Amino acid sequence: MFDRVSDLDDGGAVDSGQGARGRPGVRGKRVLVTGGTRGLGEQIVRLLAAEGARVATCARTGGDLEALRGSLAGPAGEHLFTRALDVTEPERLEEFVAASAERFGGLDGVVASAGGSRGRSLELADADDWLATWELNVGHTARLVRAALPYLRTAGGGSVVVISSISGWKPGPNAQYGSAKSAQIHLAASLARELGPDGIRVNAVSPGSMLIPGRRWDRMRTEDPEMFAAFAQAELPGGEPVAPHEVARVVAFLLSDWSSGISGANLPVDRAQNAPSPDGY
Ligand SMILES: NC(=O)c1ccc[n+]([C@@H]2O[C@H](COP(=O)([O-])OP(=O)(O)OC[C@H]3O[C@@H](n4cnc5c(N)ncnc54)[C@H](OP(=O)(O)O)[C@@H]3O)[C@@H](O)[C@H]2O)c1
Repeated sequence: MFDRVSDLDDGGAVDSGQGARGRPGVRGKRVLVTGGTRGLGEQIVRLLAAEGARVATCARTGGDLEALRGSLAGPAGEHLFTRALDVTEPERLEEFVAASAERFGGLDGVVASAGGSRGRSLELADADDWLATWELNVGHTARLVRAALPYLRTAGGGSVVVISSISGWKPGPNAQYGSAKSAQIHLAASLARELGPDGIRVNAVSPGSMLIPGRRWDRMRTEDPEMFAAFAQAELPGGEPVAPHEVARVVAFLLSDWSSGISGANLPVDRAQNAPSPDGY
């Protein structure tokens, strides 16, 4: 398929018959990623920056954004644009999208990675927990895409990646989380149809339980190895949860022009995991 290995290294030179839009990687792409200081978002930012994209990211904790920038060597760190904000504050998010586009001279892609759950089981979660979970996952994603739309249109199209979850279609504890993740999958499918005429692709990526240092599954592995082993035995055919860098690679592919045929999809990255938690059902 390739004449030379360097055809891949320089991010170009592959004749796909589509000129610049047929490039395999993300080099030169201008991408905004929400929630880029920890977990999956951090891995996405690091991979995109290492592959030569210009990346903007946000999180609530300014010190973590500074630490992220400091840890990126050379041009990757210089090109990183950051802002401390809460993605559930619509005006702050919209300002950040506009500022990122101004800094980069446009946008080619956005990734809604900030997400999570508030509250616990049905009787231990109140209306505010449901609303907060909805706003963090679905509300912020919809407003992010809306704010980025003029810039993606100006660029002649682009790629939107929505980070959902295995919990978006497999039942598990904390119904407010699964419901919101399910809505994100629907959002991606619907927006793919709505924005397709503008050349904008929209896809959801649904990670399985990710092994993130210091987070739930990693803690369980060290603090309760028997429970972790039972979880792996019952629900993880690969024996191990998926790693965030493995999910980040799929996100980078969806941002690249080599995924030009994919829109409206939900891509599970879960190594065929069954239930999304050891609590079963
Ligand atoms: N962890 C898993 O096993 C798993 C599995 C499937 C899907 N997912 C999904 O994958 C995505 C990333 O999860 P993760 O576990 O990697 O997350 P995480 O480790 O909790 O990191 C979340 C990131 O988002 C930022 N963030 C959180 N709330 C924010 C807000 N209101 N405004 C701005 N930034 C915010 C955090 O920084 P600050 O705290 O400083 O704001 C951090 O940078 C989420 O959408 C999650 O639902 C996770």
